[in-house]
Amino acid sequence: MTFRREETVQIPESDLEGMSVDTLAVRAGQIRTDQLEHSDAIFPTSSFVYGSAAQAAARFGGDEPGNIYSRFTNPTVQAFEGRIAAMEGGERAVATASGMAAILSTCIALLKSGDHVICSRGVFGTTNVLFQKYLARFGVETTFVSLTDYEEWRQASRPETRMLFLETPSNPLCEVADLEVLSRLARTSDALLVVDNCFCTPVLQRPLEHGADIVIHSATKYLDGQGRCVGGVVVGPDKLMEEVYGFLRSAGPTMSPFNAWVFHKGLETLPIRMRAHCDNALELALWLEQQNAVETVYYAGLQSHPQHELAKKQQKGFGGVLSFRVKGSREEAWRFIDATRMISITANLGDVKTTITHPATTTHGRLSPEDKDHAGITENLIRLSVGIEDVEDLKTDLMRGFDALGS
Ligand SMILES: Cc1ncc(COP(=O)(O)O)c(C=O)c1O
Repeated sequence: MTFRREETVQIPESDLEGMSVDTLAVRAGQIRTDQLEHSDAIFPTSSFVYGSAAQAAARFGGDEPGNIYSRFTNPTVQAFEGRIAAMEGGERAVATASGMAAILSTCIALLKSGDHVICSRGVFGTTNVLFQKYLARFGVETTFVSLTDYEEWRQASRPETRMLFLETPSNPLCEVADLEVLSRLARTSDALLVVDNCFCTPVLQRPLEHGADIVIHSATKYLDGQGRCVGGVVVGPDKLMEEVYGFLRSAGPTMSPFNAWVFHKGLETLPIRMRAHCDNALELALWLEQQNAVETVYYAGLQSHPQHELAKKQQKGFGGVLSFRVKGSREEAWRFIDATRMISITANLGDVKTTITHPATTTHGRLSPEDKDHAGITENLIRLSVGIEDVEDLKTDLMRGFDALGS
């Protein structure tokens, strides 16, 4: 009998070199056991055993590679890390217990007291709190700037600036930043460019190709795609990831094997899901623009969006999140939201189910009135994370909102 492949355990990375994100989503990072399973095994174990005391000593001493304890490494977590690293085009990924843990771990591992961060104003509300309230206590000062005002970024830069942090597209207003411009600024400031790529995922945007040093994800969102688990991941050069890994190993905000398995499998359908999200979101954005009760629609796929051309150049699609302002204030926004029947009222995004959110009182509720103002989070703003349901059914449900507004 002849084996078709000598290598039955795992497809060597070199065999996948140059392949597209769609293929890497399905094939990269698999760690096949000697049972030769076609799907992926899950290793829900806290520790690993050794053949002898000497082997245990060698593992602990770093003289022999291999698993020791799942706060350090776990094969299921490594499989997910390998796959997302390949998709982002990064050398290495480090998975974390949540998206916030990914941001915190990156900052703690790579910043020190006295360092300065420049962060875009439109970031996720809790990211803002992390910088302003917690990192500030440890001597890391943050200046917030407009995502798309590069002069403001330049002026905020100081000799001690070590990190530029942003989300593009931003949450919830879908502003798009030019990563190449910001990466040039990061180079001249000797700072790291860190991009939260949660909205686009590597299917639509690969920030490392545009000069970013590190990519961060809340895996909770599109990477899972079905709202099952909370998790995060950091991707970047091996040298920087070794620092992030070192913090995780000591402090412990690691990803559980079960969650890693869900995310790993979630990645397999990410490319087709993202295409469906993008198609539905564009259709809804165009439709919303025509509604009498709508003041403005924010979606980079619209010709009217100020960074439409940049988004076309930098991204492979415009994503599944859009926002719009209804005419009126909080009362009208809440009435609209409450009138929908199928769409879920929840703060999560990136799910196959469409979700509707009032950012001013939920995701961005903890921002000061001044910060909300700066970030454009008004009381009449509604965010939709467009799912993959039939778009005509989504319109039917949203029409209930417009009917409640009497338009
Ligand atoms: C853009 C963005 N980054 C980070 C996070 C935080 O992720 P997690 O909830 O997984 O901690 C979120 C959560 O909504 C988010 O929207």
